[in-house]
Amino acid sequence: MSDSAADIGIYGLGTMGSALALNLAENGFRVAVTNREVDWIVPFIERAGVLGAQLVPAHDLAAFVAALKPPRVILFMIPSGAPLDAMIDAVLPFLSGGDTLVDGGNADFHDTRRRAVRIERAGKHFVGMGVSGGAEGARHGPSMMVGGSVQSWQQLQPMAQAVAARFKDDPCVAHLGPDGAGHFVKTVHNGIEYADMQMIAEIYGLLRDAGGWDAARIGALFEQWQTGPLGSYLIEVSAAVLQATDPETGKPVVDVIMDRAGQKGTGRWTVIEALKMGQSASTIEAAVGARSWSSEKSARVAAQAVLDAGALEGELPSDSDLAQALLASRILAHAQGFRLLVAASDEFGWSLDLARISEIWRAGCIIRSVLLDDLAAALRAGVPHGQLILAPDIAAQLSALMPALRRTVAAGVQVGVALPALSAGLAWYDSARRARGTANLLQAQRDFFGAHGFARTDRDGSFHGDWPTRG
Ligand code: 6PG
Repeated sequence: MSDSAADIGIYGLGTMGSALALNLAENGFRVAVTNREVDWIVPFIERAGVLGAQLVPAHDLAAFVAALKPPRVILFMIPSGAPLDAMIDAVLPFLSGGDTLVDGGNADFHDTRRRAVRIERAGKHFVGMGVSGGAEGARHGPSMMVGGSVQSWQQLQPMAQAVAARFKDDPCVAHLGPDGAGHFVKTVHNGIEYADMQMIAEIYGLLRDAGGWDAARIGALFEQWQTGPLGSYLIEVSAAVLQATDPETGKPVVDVIMDRAGQKGTGRWTVIEALKMGQSASTIEAAVGARSWSSEKSARVAAQAVLDAGALEGELPSDSDLAQALLASRILAHAQGFRLLVAASDEFGWSLDLARISEIWRAGCIIRSVLLDDLAAALRAGVPHGQLILAPDIAAQLSALMPALRRTVAAGVQVGVALPALSAGLAWYDSARRARGTANLLQAQRDFFGAHGFARTDRDGSFHGDWPTRG
C-alpha cells in the first residue's frame, strides 16, 4: 500500500457526499471517491480545483476499496433504504476484517441496528452517522451524531473531529452509543427541527393573517429576534427568506411559493418512535400533522368557503409576547425531544449523554441556537425524572415565559388562526404540571365497560368498582 493511499472512501457524490469529500480534502485527508453514475467522478474532481490533488478517483468498487488504507473506512452518502442495502451487499466481499462502513444518510435507526448486526457478524464494523447542516454544513462544518462500535469510532474520530463544526473550540461530533444511537439522535434532531420550523411559521401566520403584516416586516422582526435569546439558524433563515424578493414578479418570494410542505420522513419517524415508547411528543406531532394538512390544498380551498369560524375578534399579541411565546415553545419542543432520548436510551441500553448531545447541536446543525447552550448547562447539572422542564433553571425560565405563550395561543383561538404546535406545547406543559390529572375517570370508564381494574389512592392493590348496571 503506497503512502498515497486514501484515508477514507466516499461512495455517493451527490450534494452532501461531494461537500463532505471537499471538507475532508481541505483538512488534509486523502479521499477516494466514487459514484454509481461513474461519469460524475472526473467532472467533480475537476471542479474541486486545488483540492483535486487530495481526491483519488475510482471507477469501480474493486479500485475504490484498493485505494484505501487498511483498516478501511468507507462513507456511504446515498439514500438509506434499499440502495444502501444493495451497496453493502456489493462491497462486503471486497472488505477485510476490521474495516468500517459508515452510513451518513438519514436512516431509520431500526434499519441501522439490523445492518450493524449483519455487518458485525461478517467481522466488519458499521456506523450509523447522522449528519446535520445541509450542503453548507457538510462543506464547512456539520454536526455529526455517531453510533457504532468503539473501534470504528477510533478509526473515524480524527477525520470526524477535523471536519466538524466547532462551538468555540469544541468539535460538534460525538460517539453517542452503539448501532442505531447516532441515527436515532439525528431523527430526534429532525423532529425538533420540524417543530421549530412550524412554530416560527405559526408566528408568521398570526402576523400575516391577523395582523396584516407583509413578509418583509415580519422578516425584519425576526432579524431583530436573531440578536437575542431566540438567536438561531432557523430564525436567521426565516428572516432572510421573508425579506427576499422574487425577481420575476417583484413580490416577496414567500408570497409566490405554494403553501404545501414536503417531508422525507424523519419528523414522522420521531413521532412513531415516541408513540411506540409510550411518550408524547405532541409539539413534534403537531408539526408533522401541519405538513400533512398543508398537502391537502384543494380540501383547504374548499373548506375555506364552507366552514365558518363564527364571530372572530381579538388583538394581536405584542412583539415581545410573540418572542417569549416562541422561546417557551422552543424549550418545550426540545424538552419533548430530550425525553424521547431518555426513553430510547433506557429501552436500547445506549447510556446517551444528553448534555453532550446538546453540546454537539450548538453549531453546524439545523437546530443550532443560543438556547442549546443553556440547555447543555441544565442537562450537565442533571434533569429530574428525565424531564428537562424540571431542571431548576429551565423550570424558572418557563414559568416566566408561559404567560406570553398563553396570551399568544389565546389570541390565535380568538382570531381563528391555527397554532397547532404552540398550542400543543402549552397543553403539554399544563398536563405536566398537574399533579392530579383526569385519568382517574378514564380508569373508571375502562373498569365499567371492560373490568380492567384500577389502583386506589388510599391503599395498594387492584380493584373493581361496584358499578350500577344499565336498565
Ligand atoms: C439536517 C436536515 C436534513 C433534512 C432536511 C429535509 O439536519 O441537515 O435535517 O437532514 O434532510 O432538513 O428534511 P425534510 O425533507 O423531511 O423536511
